[in-house]
Amino acid sequence: MQTHHTIAGLRAALAGAGRVAFVPTMGNLHDGHIALMREARTRADVVVASIFVNRLQFGPSEDFDKYPRTLADDSARLAAAGVNFLFAPDEKEMYPAPQHYHVEPDPAHVNILEGAVRPGHFGGVATVVLKLFNIVRPDVALFGKKDYQQLMVLRNMVRELALPIEIVAGETIRADDGLALSSRNGYLSAAERAEAPRLSRQLAWIRERIATGERDFLRLETEAVAELAAHGWHPDYITIRRRSDLQAPGKGDEALVVLGAARLGATRLIDNLEI
Ligand code: PAF
Repeated sequence: MQTHHTIAGLRAALAGAGRVAFVPTMGNLHDGHIALMREARTRADVVVASIFVNRLQFGPSEDFDKYPRTLADDSARLAAAGVNFLFAPDEKEMYPAPQHYHVEPDPAHVNILEGAVRPGHFGGVATVVLKLFNIVRPDVALFGKKDYQQLMVLRNMVRELALPIEIVAGETIRADDGLALSSRNGYLSAAERAEAPRLSRQLAWIRERIATGERDFLRLETEAVAELAAHGWHPDYITIRRRSDLQAPGKGDEALVVLGAARLGATRLIDNLEI
């Protein structure tokens, strides 16, 4: 695997590379990322991964400074997964001057759910992903369903800006007890880690109830929130939405997803299940 820290170096290395699959990450890789790399291998001639902790998508009181930077371990995992090129720029390379030009996603897509709790987050994600797309020029890009709203925003960005890039969604990878893998799971204490699967269990409970005919969504959401709160969580939301745009489902909407976000101690966890 070749590692490049500069835009010029990566561009030169990719000249004439054939079909390119791209998996952008912020590093601290887990099996969910590696599953995306393996999927990427099946879809292109070469696989490019990036590792860049993007300041633009973190709020002032969020974990930008303490976000784990584990480049050596990550590089070894990417090489073992068959990645051909790693792009690992520093901040000066990506943002040599303050970034004044930003992608502004549809407010209806970003002022809800994660965006309501993290103002500016999805604008920061879309801006860096567009910039990375311009650097890598991939034919296909892969993102995990774990960040369901991010996937929806990026799909819409690609469609509305007519970017010639296929977006592929990877299934969420879970630990044996159901906890969705996330770089932030490492912040959990042992006791919190033991409690953490309750979030995915509540989402699975809602999915089962809907499968057996329950249609009072508000009751399901309220009960799940209460169950989490009773076990020491601070839920932001548990909500059943339409998959396509994450708005409240209307009559006849069949493709649904249940999404949840809740704080356990100092760690905020998110998860979702398609219904
Ligand atoms: O999902 C992530 O890790 C990040 O939001 C992304 C897409 C790499 C942009 O910084």
